[in-house]
Parts: sequence; C-alpha cells; structure tokens
Amino acid sequence: MALIDNATSSSASPAPGERTASKRVELQLPSRLGYEKVAMNTAANLARLMGFSEERIEDLKTAVAEACINAMEHGNRLDDSLSVGVILSAGPGSLEIKVTDTGDGPSHSGTSTPHTPDIDKKMQEQETARGMGMFLIQALVDEAEWGSSPPTGSYARMVIHLHPTTA
Ligand SMILES: Nc1ncnc2c1ncn2[C@@H]1O[C@H](COP(=O)(O)OP(=O)(O)O)[C@@H](O)[C@H]1O
Ligand SMILES: [Mg+2]
Repeated sequence: MALIDNATSSSASPAPGERTASKRVELQLPSRLGYEKVAMNTAANLARLMGFSEERIEDLKTAVAEACINAMEHGNRLDDSLSVGVILSAGPGSLEIKVTDTGDGPSHSGTSTPHTPDIDKKMQEQETARGMGMFLIQALVDEAEWGSSPPTGSYARMVIHLHPTTA
C-alpha cells in the first residue's frame, strides 16, 4: 500500500491549517473474490479519518465492493494474476475512489448505467438478481463515472462529498 502526500512543494511552506492537498492511498488487489473486502475496509477507514458519518461509510463500502467485484469479474475475468487497482484520494471536502482493471470496460461508459433494474421483478425472481452493481454505485455515491483508458484498461471513478449539496 502506498500513501502519497500530493502536497505540491512550493517555495514557501504552507502555514499550519493551510494543508489542503489530497492524500492518496493505493492498493493492488488480485482478481479473486473476497479481496474486495480489503478495498472496502481501507476506504471505510480513510472515510472515517476524514469525518464521514457511519451511514455514508456504509454506502461507500457497498459502492467500493461492487466496483471491485465488477473489475475482478468482468474486467479481469477472475484471472488472479491480473491486478485490480484501487486509488483513494482524500481531498479537503471529498473522497475519490478509482478502481481500475485490464479490460475494455462496460459498453455503456460515462455516467449513465445500462438500465434501471426492476426491483419488484427481482424480488419475484422474474428478473435475474444480477445487474444491480452499477445501479447501486450510482445511487450511493455523489459522482460515478465509467471509462476506459486504452491500452491499459478501464476504470470506475466514484466521488463522495463530506457535505453533499441537497439538490
Ligand atoms: N469493470 C467492468 N468491465 C467490463 N464490463 C463491466 C465492468 N463493470 C460492469 N460491466 C458490465 O456492466 C454490466 C452490469 O454490471 P452490474 O450492474 O454490476 O451487474 P452484474 O455485475 O451483476 O452483471 C456487467 O454485466 C458487465 O457487462
Ligand atoms: Mg456487478
């Protein structure tokens, strides 16, 4: 795990209390189910340090776990020699999490999810229980985006704000 302080070293060192640069934590996980918990708990610990409420931390844990499982399963096809990258950047008012894999990414990149699952149908088992991950991620974080960064792979990027603006 790498902890990188992104504070840019300008000629004058910042006065106490002026250090607003982001703190970065990076993980590399094997693409094996279960390892998403390492990312989930790291994200939770960082969010707790930043002062997020336990309720928001629960949302974050679910979103991070779903993004990691997608990266392992769909991106890296559960080949545990391929890594899933998790980059957590703690800024002054928000936490950004980028989950990377070596695949092509979802066919619907950007900020829209492929389709809104029908929860009633799922409960009645008329629709498969799959297909909830991206929908959940979008519902639980303040910003969600999917994209590919050829030739290296694809990413899911999520942001949660310490003080969400109520629209
Ligand atoms: N990291 C990824 N790489 C490639 N495809 C992805 C990735 N994440 C999601 N997808 C695609 O989007 C679909 C929807 O994902 P999700 O909502 O999590 O449902 P599920 O994982 O249950 O299929 C997946 O079935 C897959 O086709
Ligand atoms: Mg999924």
